[in-house]
Amino acid sequence: MSGLMRGKVVLVTGAARGQGREHVVRMAGEGADVIAVDLCATLPGVAYASSEPTDLDTTVTLAQQSGQRVLPVLADVRDLAVLRDAIDGAVEELGRLDAVVANAGICIPRAWDEVTEEIFRDTMDVNVTGTWNTVMATAPHLVTAGGGSIVLMSSSAGLKVQPFMIPYTTSKFAVRGMAKAFAAELARFGIRVNSVHPTGVDTAMGSRAMLTQVAKASMADPRLRGMLVNMQPVEGISVEDVANAVLFLVSDASRHVTAHAMAVDAGVSEF
Ligand SMILES: NC(=O)c1ccc[n+]([C@@H]2O[C@H](COP(=O)([O-])OP(=O)(O)OC[C@H]3O[C@@H](n4cnc5c(N)ncnc54)[C@H](O)[C@@H]3O)[C@@H](O)[C@H]2O)c1
Repeated sequence: MSGLMRGKVVLVTGAARGQGREHVVRMAGEGADVIAVDLCATLPGVAYASSEPTDLDTTVTLAQQSGQRVLPVLADVRDLAVLRDAIDGAVEELGRLDAVVANAGICIPRAWDEVTEEIFRDTMDVNVTGTWNTVMATAPHLVTAGGGSIVLMSSSAGLKVQPFMIPYTTSKFAVRGMAKAFAAELARFGIRVNSVHPTGVDTAMGSRAMLTQVAKASMADPRLRGMLVNMQPVEGISVEDVANAVLFLVSDASRHVTAHAMAVDAGVSEF
């Protein structure tokens, strides 16, 4: 640990497991107190298992081993009023807020003509509205703190089309645009906003159930499968790989990096 985040408070959404858990543990390891937000209930339409409250407990226990304060918050990022209330309370308890990692998201692959209205709406509700809600509920606290850093979790699907994922690709391009748009208006408050774009990550979302669903959807046009291949000869990346990029973006080491879309994608978006 280098103490890069000492004295700071960071909020992470989608914190119960996967990438979100790693961000929480990493931030605490670098000296931050953390607000760990997750729904921990059934996710709409996904092929993989949903997280449970015990998953969030595990995140908190792991992060507390660094000796930092870690507050779990059970909230749905789709509900701005509830989110705002819960976040206001947690920030009051920890005294301030300096950085935000808007990481909660879902992915439901289908060939274009198998996408239902419900799948499209659910994906936009969580990935786009949920991300906007997270910024709206947290940015005022960063203004109060005199500045800060916000990271919005997009995907390589926010840089390059991923076939068989029209709702997800649409949502992750939107998140990339949202980061740049917030960066412009929040710059005068000393707040930086960037997006991160991972290729496939080894989490529940990147699990066998998900890969099977993508493989099934890709039967519709097998020619397009090559669009998902990484330039580096790796199947995917780890949660640590993504956490390294996020740590850089929330820390002062990146103090003049804003409105940037950072690929952590093994080159897939240029391949
Ligand atoms: N896994 C991948 O291959 C991959 C690749 C690129 C980008 N991403 C993005 O990274 C982020 C994290 O994904 P992950 O791989 O850790 O997935 P994951 O499914 O393992 O974890 C996501 C967490 O977000 C939570 N969540 C979902 N909807 C929520 C809501 N409405 N309110 C609050 N919490 C909610 C879930 O409960 C879960 O704990 C997502 O935004 C995802 O789109 C994932």
